[in-house]
Amino acid sequence: MSEKKLHLALGVSDLAASIADYSRRLGAKPVVVVDGEYALWRTKTLNVSIRQAEGAAGLRHLGWEDPDASRISSESDCNGLIWEHFSAAQQAEEINCLWPQADYQPDARHRRIKSFVLRQGHLSKGQEKALYDFGPRFCIPYAAEPLDLDAAFGRHAPRVLEIGFGMGQATAEIAAGRPDTDFVGVEVHTPGVGSLLKLVGEGNIGNVRIIQHDAVEVLQHMLAPDALDGVHIYFPDPWHKKRHHKRRLIQPEFVQLLLSRLKPGGYIHLATDWEDYAIQMLDVLSATPQLENTADGYAPRPDYRPLTKFENRGIRLGHGVWDLVFRKK
Ligand SMILES: C[S@@+](CC[C@H](N)C(=O)[O-])C[C@H]1O[C@@H](n2cnc3c(N)ncnc32)[C@H](O)[C@@H]1O
Repeated sequence: MSEKKLHLALGVSDLAASIADYSRRLGAKPVVVVDGEYALWRTKTLNVSIRQAEGAAGLRHLGWEDPDASRISSESDCNGLIWEHFSAAQQAEEINCLWPQADYQPDARHRRIKSFVLRQGHLSKGQEKALYDFGPRFCIPYAAEPLDLDAAFGRHAPRVLEIGFGMGQATAEIAAGRPDTDFVGVEVHTPGVGSLLKLVGEGNIGNVRIIQHDAVEVLQHMLAPDALDGVHIYFPDPWHKKRHHKRRLIQPEFVQLLLSRLKPGGYIHLATDWEDYAIQMLDVLSATPQLENTADGYAPRPDYRPLTKFENRGIRLGHGVWDLVFRKK
């Protein structure tokens, strides 16, 4: 039997005071707080949300949190009151879409360890303008449903996914140098998205599309099996403290996810300047039976990957950089 919770959505005039008051009344702490904007409580029987109101406080709508809801829907009752119907996961997706910083997982027991921490970061005027001018042409909004890549690029071509493109200099340079291949860049940070948009927009580099979201979910929900010819992951966050190693992207489970979206013959190209992570990468990829190494150990840097400024400096200082290129059998 499904356990429904009655949903009450309120607009409030003072969010902070309402959080204190309703936490007392409901006998529970909120499961999500978005400063100045929103809070949500989920008790055994209730799903109560409050939102900072522009005008008068009051009821916004009613509804049901229902594990059997197939999608978010709403209808009016005989008094004109709106009743929404949604599952906890659908509500979470809506909250995270409106306020990504909430990073809300309805069931904390299933909370996945993320490979990034969302920082606000400074958005330059140029990046902000690029988001506005070029976002509509190059950005694809995240949606938990399969993406039609042929439609997104307007052609059928080999496809490479780049995870965590940072400010996007390498992405733009690689895409400009390989016009016959399409590149899907995934990054969570807005300034990075703005920066790559500026490069591809001003450079008119048409074979790039950008998704601003966690790459794990993009792989899980938007990319079909065999969708990719290659994957680039350059200088992923090394998470150098031992207790943070679990946040590192390159782990057996993640490699299996990559493989499930990669065509036979497709490649995974990783690069890092962190020796201990390079060793982990080589261990994980070498222990994956569906993969074969294109080199004997670490690979020479392929010509298409440009040297970054930071890498050049590292090389002058005698620091190492390790590339790995493996192919799916
Ligand atoms: C150390 S930076 C490297 C950036 C760039 N590749 C470079 O070489 O300069 C790692 C980037 O990966 C991004 N990142 C980490 N985990 C991610 C994920 N799961 N999905 C999307 N981006 C991610 C971070 O936001 C960060 O910008």
